[in-house]
Amino acid sequence: MLDTAYETITVHPLTRHIGAQIGGIDLTRPLSAQQVADVRRALLAHQVIFFRDQPISLDQHLALGRYFGALHVHPNSPGPDGYPEILQIHSDATTKRIAGDRWHSDVSCDEEPPLGSILHLHTLPSHGGDTLFSSSYAVYESLSPGFRTYLEGLTATHDGEPTYRQRNRLRGIDDAGKTFPKSSHPVVRTHPETGRKGVFVSSNFTTHIDGVPEAESEGILRLLYERFASPEFQVRFKWEPHSIAFWDNRAVQHLAVWDYYPEVRSGYRVTISGDKPYL
Ligand code: SIN
Repeated sequence: MLDTAYETITVHPLTRHIGAQIGGIDLTRPLSAQQVADVRRALLAHQVIFFRDQPISLDQHLALGRYFGALHVHPNSPGPDGYPEILQIHSDATTKRIAGDRWHSDVSCDEEPPLGSILHLHTLPSHGGDTLFSSSYAVYESLSPGFRTYLEGLTATHDGEPTYRQRNRLRGIDDAGKTFPKSSHPVVRTHPETGRKGVFVSSNFTTHIDGVPEAESEGILRLLYERFASPEFQVRFKWEPHSIAFWDNRAVQHLAVWDYYPEVRSGYRVTISGDKPYL
């Protein structure tokens, strides 16, 4: 059903908890202050928003991201010459592991993890290559009050090293001597703009819950990951050439499905800097 509360865009919610399709806007053109405000409001309301038929250039992509904040440079994969803030998302017959193949919030190992990410794909396989998004608010709200309170007293360590080193090894990149971000964040974070609480641990970056026995940490994390994997908290996006997904890393986790090998799937991501998570 159309949400009519927006002045400059159309907003069709896709599920009860998460996701909306946005229309009535051309992202190849400069945006007005009202358009930026409406897109921001839709993002905050739906956590991930989707656009179709937006053949943006790299410069238009960077400009789009900058409407929402300063841009982030990836700690392991800075962009091509002249475009450090562009992250190339590409897989083909030579790929051994794709980016984003485990549930995660982007670069949560950073001290100040990214606010959001804007992914534009221009080349898609004949079938598949969807991206799944899961709501951290819905996961939090599905837990019992007592368990929520327990989780609110915990922090967890997010380490970039295991995942980035494995990816570099599979790509034949020598990263000896390189260091990767590692940070401790609250297991439950309060969204700085909506004030809603969500669970902030992921199988890609979280190594353990701080200060509890290993078996307890593993049990809690397994339970939370199972909640994120539950279809009722998710939206699944089917890409077309020049679709764009814009997600709020403070409120969702996502996972890219690699079911199209050896076909090509390709595009670019711009990531918006964020701030330190707090309970
Ligand atoms: C990512 O940004 O994690 C990749 C998502 C995707 O390729 O769908």
